[in-house]
Amino acid sequence: MTTKTVFITGTSSGLGKLTAIRFAQMGWNVAATMRTPEKETELTSYDNIRIFKLDVTDVEQVRSAVEQAIASFGRIDVVVNNAGMGTYGPLELARESDIDWQFAVNTRGPINVIRKFLPHFRANNGGMFINISSFMGITTAVPLGSLYNMSKFALEGLTEGLYYELKPFNIELRLIEQGGSAGNKFKESIVWNRDEHIRDYDDMIGKLEQVMNTAGDSGQLDDPQTIVDAIVAQATGESSKFRTVVGAAGNGLMALRNALPIEEYLEKMAENYK
Ligand SMILES: NC(=O)c1ccc[n+]([C@@H]2O[C@H](COP(=O)([O-])OP(=O)(O)OC[C@H]3O[C@@H](n4cnc5c(N)ncnc54)[C@H](OP(=O)(O)O)[C@@H]3O)[C@@H](O)[C@H]2O)c1
Repeated sequence: MTTKTVFITGTSSGLGKLTAIRFAQMGWNVAATMRTPEKETELTSYDNIRIFKLDVTDVEQVRSAVEQAIASFGRIDVVVNNAGMGTYGPLELARESDIDWQFAVNTRGPINVIRKFLPHFRANNGGMFINISSFMGITTAVPLGSLYNMSKFALEGLTEGLYYELKPFNIELRLIEQGGSAGNKFKESIVWNRDEHIRDYDDMIGKLEQVMNTAGDSGQLDDPQTIVDAIVAQATGESSKFRTVVGAAGNGLMALRNALPIEEYLEKMAENYK
């Protein structure tokens, strides 16, 4: 059997790094991409992982990383669009640059990567894009996360929309909606929009911070390996679900969202932040 190859964005930490290691341990070749390869010390110890420099917002770097990975491995079978970040805070306080950056990383980034892989996948008559979304990409649940919601809802729309366009070429699309996962630096990388200060939002910010800080203690965070399991299940064909919601928190919210009229759902969620 020929060895398969996966290309992953954002492998310097968290889910991306764990996913790279899992595929390598399974015997796959891994094109692990990150913004700062010079700092990497862990992935370098695997013979079947090759590291490429990639900031997903830089179209020229995307072109170069995709070309190098294809030249290096000959063929890429699966692309995991994992790189992402979160901008939180009152919309009216967001810096213009933060708004653009949220979209640039979480939405435009996957677009850049997908576009550069399409000629290769069409030539191979197949391939798979696994886009890492969030339950925040299919429902809302907290205040002050509208920009993050926007970026992941857009990623979901992009992925669904592409289904029709790529089906004739045997190119598959998957979405993984994770909740919060333990052991990553996502929380630390959140950009809070609070260079300025508006007192009206203080209570809401305090409550959201409390929810984020206690999520780990109250068992609401998922074991990141369960998210890796979901990615692997799609890549290996063990599952062919278009959308996989991982974890109790995300699945609980989705059950509620599907059961209630949207007006009731929104009111119920807002109750938590009164
Ligand atoms: N953790 C959660 O609670 C959670 C919940 C739902 C969804 N997600 C999604 O899961 C995915 C993985 O996040 P994580 O939980 O593993 O968090 P993480 O540990 O913060 O990892 C994010 C990765 O994305 C990379 N990245 C950020 N901006 C980039 C850019 N412009 N170009 C290339 N790489 C970039 C980071 O690299 P640097 O080291 O260079 O910054 C890092 O490797 C993201 O798409 C995130 O939105 C996370």
